Formats: sequence, C-alpha cells, structure tokens
Amino acid sequence: GRPRDLAGRRVVVSAGGTREAIDPVRFLGNRSTGLQGYALARTAAARGAEVTLVAANVALPDPAGATVVRAESAAQLREAVLAASAGADVVVMAAAVADFRPADRHDVKIKKTDGEPEPIRLTKNPDILAELGELRRAAREAAGDPAPAGRVAVDPAVIVGFAAETHDVLANGQAKLARKGCDLLVVNQVGEGRAFGTPDNAATVLVAGGEPVEVPLGPKEDVADAVWDLVAARLP
Ligand code: C5P
Repeated sequence: GRPRDLAGRRVVVSAGGTREAIDPVRFLGNRSTGLQGYALARTAAARGAEVTLVAANVALPDPAGATVVRAESAAQLREAVLAASAGADVVVMAAAVADFRPADRHDVKIKKTDGEPEPIRLTKNPDILAELGELRRAAREAAGDPAPAGRVAVDPAVIVGFAAETHDVLANGQAKLARKGCDLLVVNQVGEGRAFGTPDNAATVLVAGGEPVEVPLGPKEDVADAVWDLVAARLP
C-alpha cells in the first residue's frame, strides 16, 4: 500500500495539452495525452491529498478522488490553475502548455483560396509555472503585511515543473529549474518509447539545492510516486 503522507494537503495538478484556436475548427496543439498528469492525480489522492486536476483536452476517465476542472487554451488553463492554487500546498504543472498562440483568432473558418495562404502570426503565451514562482515570491515578501480582505495567497510549499527535452537534458533542465523558480523539475527525454502517449516513462528529477534523482523506465504511476516521495520530503 501507499503511505498516507499527503493526508490533509491540498494539491493542484495540471495535465494534458492546450489547444490554441486558429479559427472555429482549427487549433495548434501538441501530443500530450495527460497520462502522466492523471497518474500524478490518482496517486496523490491515494496518498491522502485533496486533489484538483486541471485537465486540458484529455480523453481519459476522471481519476478517483480528484476534482476535475477542464480547460482548453493556455489562457483558460492559467485561470483555472491560479484559482485552484490559492491556499494550495503543492502545485504540479504536468500539462504541456503552448508557448505560443495565433495572434489573431479568426471568427469564421479560413477559406481555401487560389493564392498563397496567409501566414499564421504567433504571439507568446504567459508562462504559468514562472508566474506561480513569482506569486509565491511576492506572497513571501508580503508576509507580515495584513492580508488583503478575502484574498488567499498563492504560496505553495512545493512547486513542480515538467520539461521534455531532446538534447542536453540536464544542462537545459538545470537552467529551466532556476529560471522558473520551481523546487522540482521532472525532466523527460523525449523519444525512445517514452513520454507522449505511452504508459511508461523515465525521468530525471532535478531538485533545487539538491542532487538529481533518477527514476528508471517504468509505469507512469511509479514516476508519479517518486515525485510525491520528493514532494512529501519537502513539505513542512
Ligand atoms: O519552458 P517549457 O515549456 O519547456 O517548460 C515546461 C514547464 O513549464 C511545464 O511544467 C509546463 O507545464 C510549464 N509551462 C507553463 N506555461 C507555459 C509553458 C510551459 O506553465 N506557457
């Protein structure tokens, strides 16, 4: 059986991949299926956590014991994650969030014409993980100040990011951990029967102020449990 080491903790997990609308029928998306995020939500609930799962375009059954909130675009995922993160103990950003979205969303379907198609201009999406780190820093700076009435601070004890890298996995991961201000960064090497759409995963978990932890290739549940072990060790 699993330890009940997350009992009484409020945990937020994002999962799946965002879709950024081009027009009413087309979108820019990615290959994330949500399997790893759902495994994280399921195992956290089994370890006693109160789980909010923010799911972006996932076609999997709801995990037992989690409250599921749905989001389609990065903007919607941001709203849902920030709302759920107020007062949360742990936030895990397992979702593949689009770094860019089409700058203009067409209200009607783009028609095929004889000439060259119009290029799709892109604009940057907000980085939700980095924003969580900023909000926490601000909350800790404001500690001692009277709390604004009715507002609950975003001040999770542990923030976890994910990164899929194809090359220079550790160097890129360490830079990302620092840049995004998270405590743990779960780095997947993409390819070789790993990550997207497969039931198995292998990862290197980078730890702020600590040594990296290798999680061998195995079920995504095992990767999830390894992440929760590291999270539980960092909870006050
Ligand atoms: O920078 P990169 O996209 O590789 O970072 C991946 C991590 O950052 C994931 O945890 C992902 O959920 C998060 N992310 C985010 N907002 C974005 C892009 C990525 O929260 N716009």
